[in-house]
Amino acid sequence: MKVTKAEWVISAVKPAQYPADALPEIALAGRSNVGKSSLINRLINRKNLARTSSKPGKTQTINFYRINDILYFADMPGYGFAKVPKSVKAAWGRMIEGYLLHRRELCGVIQVIDLRHPPTRDDQNMYAWLKHYGIPAIVAATKADKISKGQWPKHLKRIREGIGLVPEDPLILFSAQTGQGKEELWKGIRRLTGN
Ligand code: GTP
Ligand code: MG
Repeated sequence: MKVTKAEWVISAVKPAQYPADALPEIALAGRSNVGKSSLINRLINRKNLARTSSKPGKTQTINFYRINDILYFADMPGYGFAKVPKSVKAAWGRMIEGYLLHRRELCGVIQVIDLRHPPTRDDQNMYAWLKHYGIPAIVAATKADKISKGQWPKHLKRIREGIGLVPEDPLILFSAQTGQGKEELWKGIRRLTGN
């Protein structure tokens, strides 16, 4: 996919602020600091349009990026970040859940999981929740650059089995650092958005 235009549109905390132009949307879900924002930047070839940080908890709102005027990426706060106060975590949870359940424009979710580690309980719950509500997912196993190639199949298998991946959902090896998996991920996104 050739990205010629990518723009931040809004950082939303409530539905009234979500974009109103009814373009298809793909949301990013995943553990805090796993690399959701970096994955967006790599997909659109922009260094830091989606703000990233080495410290978890960077993304605290639902950030909408309009791509080529044909679709949105919705970058969401990460889950499983212990340092956020319980009340804030609950508010994020309600915001994300409300968005995923009620957003008409949502075509699917890219769930980002760290290739290096077994999926966490939160990863398992998130994926099971998406499947329960019939939301299509693409699982991006990211930070592939941190693992030697020979280990990839073993780690992919651990993720596939750990979350109980359904056959309809692709599992894509990805690295924001090297760009690995980028075209395959775009293919999956186009399939979900109909572009
Ligand atoms: P929150 O917004 O806090 O939930 O984090 P996030 O999931 O958006 O993660 P972010 O993209 O900010 O990246 C977190 C850290 O991981 C940064 O230091 C990135 O440089 C690093 N990172 C992300 N993706 C990759 C990758 O594919 N390879 C490597 N080596 N580092 C990565
Ligand atoms: Mg982020």
